[in-house]
Amino acid sequence: MSQQVSTTVSATATKEILKESARRRTFAVISHPDAGKSTLTEALALHARVIGTAGATNGKENRRETVSDWMQMEKDRGISISSTALQFAYRDTVINLLDTPGHADFSEDTYRVLAAVDCAVMLVDAAKGLETQTMKLFEVCRARNLPIITVINKWDRPGLDPLALMDEITERTGLAPMPLTWAIGIAGDFRGVWDLQKDEYVHFERQNSGASLAKEEHFTPEQALEREGDAWTDSLDEAELVIDGREFDRDAFLDAKATPILFSSAALNFGVKQILDALVDLAPSAGPREDKDGGLRPVEAPFSGFVFKVQAGMNRAHRDHVAFIRVCSGIFERGMVVTHSNTGKTFATKYAQHLFGREREVIDQAYPGDVVGLVNASALRVGDSLYVEEPVEYPPIPFFSPEHFRVARSQDPSRYKQFRRGIDQLEHEGIIQVLRSDRRGDQAPVLAAVGPMQFEVVEDRMTQDFNAPMRYEQLSYSLARLTSAGAAEILSNVHGAEVLVRTDGAFVAVFNDIWALRRVEKNHPEVPLAVIGTESPNSRGY
Ligand code: G4P
Repeated sequence: MSQQVSTTVSATATKEILKESARRRTFAVISHPDAGKSTLTEALALHARVIGTAGATNGKENRRETVSDWMQMEKDRGISISSTALQFAYRDTVINLLDTPGHADFSEDTYRVLAAVDCAVMLVDAAKGLETQTMKLFEVCRARNLPIITVINKWDRPGLDPLALMDEITERTGLAPMPLTWAIGIAGDFRGVWDLQKDEYVHFERQNSGASLAKEEHFTPEQALEREGDAWTDSLDEAELVIDGREFDRDAFLDAKATPILFSSAALNFGVKQILDALVDLAPSAGPREDKDGGLRPVEAPFSGFVFKVQAGMNRAHRDHVAFIRVCSGIFERGMVVTHSNTGKTFATKYAQHLFGREREVIDQAYPGDVVGLVNASALRVGDSLYVEEPVEYPPIPFFSPEHFRVARSQDPSRYKQFRRGIDQLEHEGIIQVLRSDRRGDQAPVLAAVGPMQFEVVEDRMTQDFNAPMRYEQLSYSLARLTSAGAAEILSNVHGAEVLVRTDGAFVAVFNDIWALRRVEKNHPEVPLAVIGTESPNSRGY
């Protein structure tokens, strides 16, 4: 049921919004740690010439200096906990690359970023294929029906057979691979790519150990054969087996049924321009967005957006709180007065910033697809909607399935009130999920996280911001499923399982391991056990 949005946006502004949103490509890279996400980010930025030589954004060796100093522990570890957005112009588009934190800082935020993008680049290490974290992120993309471009990276190093990689992608993701480029030369002998759209051979030449653009030369297929001999024909034969006579089908990509394939060496800057071109030519632009009731808010409607991430304590000196907003419609202008859909209250967006790494730039205008960081908008929570004029509420961002569980206790019983307030606040900010049960009582809530780093953030904030030092008790659970009230009693007698209640009232069954879960599935088929988080928000009955 589509809802009519009356707009007071002028005809000139409408034209501008339509033009600007059509230019936006907003995406994230999903990958397993070490597949080359940071290297690719640098290489993409280098191609778009936002930085002089690769390494200036967040290269490994510079990382300690270039990452934000938002939290002391972040500084100590030399990693970036916070999702940030890199914006750059390429050809006639504006590209927004949202960071998905990896490594130990993997958390619910990593998943939430995927609610704010229109497309994902799945980066696969040629030697490793699809790894666990990639698959977890892929599942979230699948639930959102996000179009996915697949990049096989590190082709300059020995790796798997390309056809075996294609089989793995088909089998594990269900997406049909559609080569856009195909590597010439086996993994470890990366000479260039066959650009299937242009039917030409792009030969790459390594420059200055990848710190600057690779030299590209273009050849016809005949010239390629002469130059590369068997390497050319062998690669073409492989690619043709994958294509199997089918035409490249952009709709299948947009419908998340097929995935364009490209080959790269992010470290040597090989094949990176082709990734940018695929984003410009194939990836969806910022389009109308579905609201909570299934209506569509057109991009040219008055400003609206939603919060996909909240970062507090980014700057100890200023105690700031930044809410990251994905703009969905209209023009965001700094200083504009927006309405917070949850409270109906209005506030002025005086401090709007664009953040990437250490850089903070004041932002004056943003269009659909862009990300704005609102500073000190402390009422904003993950999933909240903002709008001007015509109200809109976007679907909440779903909870994701936690895999780490700890009991939290106040270190000092006399500070229990502060402890409770702190836990409630951090839960409200979306930093941690809180599960409770009568048996455990309120003094000992179970904190549930997607990544263990979330616990450290809670501990740090509890001490610094709420003056309520706390301690943890480890729990051996590692799996959660949504269940019903009736399951609590049944599972109370099962070893390695327990039922807890989430703050939204949902009953969450937790299990030590997959075997404990399987035992319950077998012995108590009447107990509902639904996977959490990979369902689309609307299907959860909000
Ligand atoms: P991540 O953000 O996904 O965790 O990966 P990151 O870019 O940090 O890359 C992980 C390692 O893989 C780095 O090596 C990086 O140089 C290397 N790498 C990334 N892309 C490529 C590629 O296309 N080819 C090759 N051969 N290597 C690649 P490192 O040894 O951990 O760090 P460094 O000292 O090389 O910077």
